[in-house]
Amino acid sequence: MLDVIDLNIEFHDHLIPETVVYDFDLHMDPGDIVGLVGESGSGKSMSAMAIAGLLSRRDMKKRGQILFEGTDLLSCERSHLRSLQGDEISIVFQEPMTSLNPVYKIGWQVEEPLRIHYPEMSKEERKQKALKMLADVDLDDPQRVYDCYPHQLSGGMRQRVMIAAAMICGPKLLIADEPTTALDVTVQAQIVKLLKRINREKKTAILFISHDLSLVRQLCQRVVVMQGGNVVESGTIEQIYENPKEAYTQRLIAAIPKCEKKKRAVKEG
Ligand SMILES: Nc1ncnc2c1ncn2[C@@H]1O[C@H](COP(=O)(O)OP(=O)(O)OP(=O)(O)O)[C@@H](O)[C@H]1O
Ligand SMILES: [Mg+2]
Repeated sequence: MLDVIDLNIEFHDHLIPETVVYDFDLHMDPGDIVGLVGESGSGKSMSAMAIAGLLSRRDMKKRGQILFEGTDLLSCERSHLRSLQGDEISIVFQEPMTSLNPVYKIGWQVEEPLRIHYPEMSKEERKQKALKMLADVDLDDPQRVYDCYPHQLSGGMRQRVMIAAAMICGPKLLIADEPTTALDVTVQAQIVKLLKRINREKKTAILFISHDLSLVRQLCQRVVVMQGGNVVESGTIEQIYENPKEAYTQRLIAAIPKCEKKKRAVKEG
């Protein structure tokens, strides 16, 4: 489904060009859940945004290939890219308050991808789909949420709304860029559970970006580790967590709080 080959991203908005991603590779099959981890500034978001087609073509040079179902998103027509965004490939970000528009009601914003990709759909059908989607992301009283403004909801509810909007067209790939970082631990766990269920029920492939290695371990099947714009190591959860090869990965794994490891051992045992 997705094959990213030798992706390089270079900024040209300063005097000296700056490469922020080097030879990034990623393969995802339908239904895969892959974690993308690494320190701040290592290029996770840039790689994700490139896959979602969200990096402007000015100011920045991209080399390599991002093959989505065989079409290279780096060289295809803009109209093709736009037809995929929010329909086949969706993205949710860390802070839902900045992604949601404060002056529009939730219902209107969840329906937005339908208005773009399925303009022939009737108003009533859109509303029914939005209500169903809000219920699907475990929001109680979808009708009330539908009529709310973003500030009337909690952070966790807003993140569920963002996931509902991202999922409403039934994408094949959902990119979640630190979707739980701004939330408390209990809500984080609920969102991870929700993503797991979406993956299981709708077979949506998920690229999950996070600083939290224990969350990645709970959710993902494979992990890609980045540092300074490079992929330093990638493999299955077992390979990376039980037997990390690179010193950088070993340090990351060693830094997982002990109580997390103990909790897991108790759960698994
Ligand atoms: N417009 C820009 N011009 C030059 N460099 C940029 C620009 N935007 C981002 N960068 C650089 O790209 C690098 C990668 O950033 P990116 O946002 O992908 O990191 P990240 O791994 O997502 O970090 P975090 O975990 O903090 O979100 C950083 O060093 C950042 O400074
Ligand atoms: Mg980031």
